[in-house]
Amino acid sequence: MKKRVLAALLSTTMVASLLAGCGSSGSSNTASSDAGAATEASSDAGSSASAGGTKVGVSMPTKDLQRWNQDGSNMESELKAAGYDVDLQFASNDVATQVSQIENMISSGANVLVIAAIEGSSLGSALDKAKEAGIPVIAYDRLLMNSDAVSYYATFDNYKVGTVQGNYIVDALDLKNAAGPFNLEITAGDPGDNNANYFYSGAMDVLQPYIDEGKLNVVSGQTKFDDVATPTWATETAQSRAENILSSYYADGTNVDVWLCSNDSTALGVENALAANYSGTYPIITGQDCDIENTKNMIAGKQSMSVFKDTRTLASQVVKMTGQILSGQTVDVNDTTTYDNGTGVIPSFLCEPVFADANNYKEILIDSGYYTEDQLK
Ligand code: BGC
Repeated sequence: MKKRVLAALLSTTMVASLLAGCGSSGSSNTASSDAGAATEASSDAGSSASAGGTKVGVSMPTKDLQRWNQDGSNMESELKAAGYDVDLQFASNDVATQVSQIENMISSGANVLVIAAIEGSSLGSALDKAKEAGIPVIAYDRLLMNSDAVSYYATFDNYKVGTVQGNYIVDALDLKNAAGPFNLEITAGDPGDNNANYFYSGAMDVLQPYIDEGKLNVVSGQTKFDDVATPTWATETAQSRAENILSSYYADGTNVDVWLCSNDSTALGVENALAANYSGTYPIITGQDCDIENTKNMIAGKQSMSVFKDTRTLASQVVKMTGQILSGQTVDVNDTTTYDNGTGVIPSFLCEPVFADANNYKEILIDSGYYTEDQLK
């Protein structure tokens, strides 16, 4: 309860002043003085200030997409380095598996749960058990919906990811000046993932005025989220929808100028479909995550941009929050207004997404040690 009161009390100005990059000391210090009540909401569930003998259950959605393997292994190594025992599980994109893995974590004595949900609204029963057992839950990257068992949320600024993609398209096509019309198609993410709506809305808030003006023309007519969504973010699903669009609307030689894709796994599907079914001028294609295959495609000119979300930074932030929760300290948050999960606003820490393309990938991906040069060959 207390954390909701806190959410209401924090002023907008205060929150704005906290919006610094992930893990910056400035945000940490400022948050500390004001987020005390948020800490209290969970501090009774964990008491030990030292990590020794303390177990953290980390539940990841799947190994099928590159990003979650990275998140899982970063979380595991960072938690171990901080002295925690770690129970890391991947749920094969199967909700029932994720529920039972979380239940096992609870019964085997996890002190904190860190959960990246397959479907944000489908873990209610497991989350209720965590709450009954007094185990704090951190929603990782994806918000856990409709449950009052969620203590904190750590993610990237999801709406901003979408605006970065939308603004890239505006600049690349010079939409402010050019007359157009340019042909646009849209591929969004998983309807069960709360993030997918934020990505889509962020991009569409930027692009919709140009669609309304007629500068952007969605030839397939498919613009609504439900029409462009991709269940489980699967590359194959994005690919087969793109193939259908290309054969139905572009087989007569019409060019597709731009394809807004919410992330890299869906962008890859679109790129595969274009390679096999399209011979017109190659479109601008957006993405997100800087997955290895997509970064290779950026270098090869088959994808225009991506949005880099440094999973190392998110993992460090979550490890830090875990320690703060368990030792009863103030927990670092920098957003207490955006993410209402249906039971109230969940105090959140938003990391900064970073624009990436073929011009800056070396600096942000290789120089930072995220990938080796060989991995991108
Ligand atoms: C993440 C994205 C990712 C997508 C598919 C989303 O929840 O925020 O980074 O591309 O899931 O894994």
